[in-house]
Amino acid sequence: MLEVESVTKKFDDNVAVHELSFSAEEPQIIGIIGRSGAGKSTFLRMMNRLTDATSGELRVDGTDVLALKGRAKMDWQRECAMIFQQFNLVPRLNVLTNVILGRLNQQSILRSSLMFFTQAERHEALRLLDRFGVAQTALQRAETLSGGQQQRVAICRAMMQQPKFILADEPIASLDPLNARLVMEALQKINQEEKITVICNLHTLDTARTYCDRVIGMRAGEKVFDDVPQALTNSIAREIYGAEAEEAFEGSITSTSLGGDAPPAQPEPIVEAVGAL
Ligand SMILES: Nc1ncnc2c1ncn2[C@@H]1O[C@H](COP(=O)(O)OP(=O)(O)OP(=O)(O)O)[C@@H](O)[C@H]1O
Ligand SMILES: [Mg+2]
Repeated sequence: MLEVESVTKKFDDNVAVHELSFSAEEPQIIGIIGRSGAGKSTFLRMMNRLTDATSGELRVDGTDVLALKGRAKMDWQRECAMIFQQFNLVPRLNVLTNVILGRLNQQSILRSSLMFFTQAERHEALRLLDRFGVAQTALQRAETLSGGQQQRVAICRAMMQQPKFILADEPIASLDPLNARLVMEALQKINQEEKITVICNLHTLDTARTYCDRVIGMRAGEKVFDDVPQALTNSIAREIYGAEAEEAFEGSITSTSLGGDAPPAQPEPIVEAVGAL
């Protein structure tokens, strides 16, 4: 159970997020929409404790995660994996290592700095890469992958953290429509199969309508909409986005806008040489 209660963030006089409240009982995909500067990233960063809230509580199963300190705060950050627009992989490390670091970063600085991985961790990472259709890239340096592949690897790294929540900040903003679709479908799969709540900042309305169970609209730090996507009419969307409305209406990634039902890329068979990695 997630309960966000009056969460506020001020940067000096600028109120980036003002008294934001909502709760979620079921594992949902929640899309947060709003124009540039509305406070979307600031909210995710507060939830993940990358930045401290000015006031308010964010309770997960009754515990206020905004008040956690030290080890408990680090444990929460493991449970609350982030995915970024720019993927944030380590470019010169191979894909498999990038994924395993999702587990090791949280466990032992010594073990991760020595890159000491167990066979079970390698198998788990490879299984995730296979599940999201990028196992064939396991031994490539991350920087050699396309944006869409890198974002799916970033999703694997997030899953390696065994999170309760996935927070995705504009995960498809740098991707072409087909790759955007593959990434959103991956997030949908995680939500449905793993029962993980996904909170996703999105730039285009169409994506929010297609993939989210619920949409929260923010304007100037305030929540101005919170409902199922079907309730998000174009006129409400125009109010949320103001001058950025036309931009938000563009960038559709659904099959219709691709001019037909383009098949998703077929996942490659799992790499078999685990022992040699
Ligand atoms: N580190 C910071 N220092 C000062 N002000 C900040 C900082 N981070 C964000 N802000 C301000 O907080 C407000 C909300 O910013 P935020 O990045 O959360 O918006 P956003 O909705 O994610 O926008 P975008 O769609 O452009 O990513 C803005 O006015 C921004 O200038
Ligand atoms: Mg942002």
